[in-house]
Amino acid sequence: MSWGLKDRVERVMKGGRTVMLAVDHGYFQGPTTGLENPRRTITPLLPYADSLMLTRGVLRTSVDPGQDVPIVLRASGGTSILKELSDEVVTTSIEEAVRLNASAVAVSVFVGSEHEKETLSNLSELVNEGERYGMPVLAVTAVGREMARDARYLGLACRIAAELGASIVKTYYCADFRKVVDGCPVPVVIAGGKKLPERDALQLAHDAVAEGAAGVDMGRNIFQSSDPVAMIRAVRGVVREGKGVDEAYASFAEGSARTLPAR
Ligand code: R5P
Repeated sequence: MSWGLKDRVERVMKGGRTVMLAVDHGYFQGPTTGLENPRRTITPLLPYADSLMLTRGVLRTSVDPGQDVPIVLRASGGTSILKELSDEVVTTSIEEAVRLNASAVAVSVFVGSEHEKETLSNLSELVNEGERYGMPVLAVTAVGREMARDARYLGLACRIAAELGASIVKTYYCADFRKVVDGCPVPVVIAGGKKLPERDALQLAHDAVAEGAAGVDMGRNIFQSSDPVAMIRAVRGVVREGKGVDEAYASFAEGSARTLPAR
């Protein structure tokens, strides 16, 4: 592994932990609730994100250059919620990622789905090219509509992604999550998934980290929160400061209370 690749991984996961803010949803969902105006959503959250996962379109239009946040550039896509989700191609080259000063690229793999082979090939292509430039690849273990989100299936998908050379793997939290982490020789981060009550989302982050996750790559549970800034700060408390759920939720509730409009 080159020094450059190691350095980039360390930027994304300082000290082996990360609160990665995911705002790439529009690449297949269009104007997702809470992300209709990406700049408005992203700007106040940036100071609290260890890294930012997004497409080049949103990076170019909605994030000012010179921000001190490592970029994880979404490099696969080409389909929408109206079609078969696994039918993805590589949309952004490693050379473009270097031009955009990205610290990593992200690609979805759909193990068990119709286009499993093509998505694993997308991952391999980016890993091969990434090795030439010292660019790490984050594999997103996307789950087809018909797939179970259990340790057996997610463990399979994570392990395959690591075997093909991903430097970081993103997956979903599940029962027996420790098994997923133990079977994956590279750091694992969890997606937040659909919006949950804030306390439940903090519990999810807490349990994942307690069972070996290196952190979160969280989107909707932050930017769809009633108070996104208070929520990302509470998530940081859990992931980076070892706070318990009660303490982190109390800090969220306090932040929320402060921002309530005066009556
Ligand atoms: C999905 O493929 C996207 O990459 C999202 O970034 C990912 O699902 C994480 O966002 P959320 O926490 O909203 O699930």
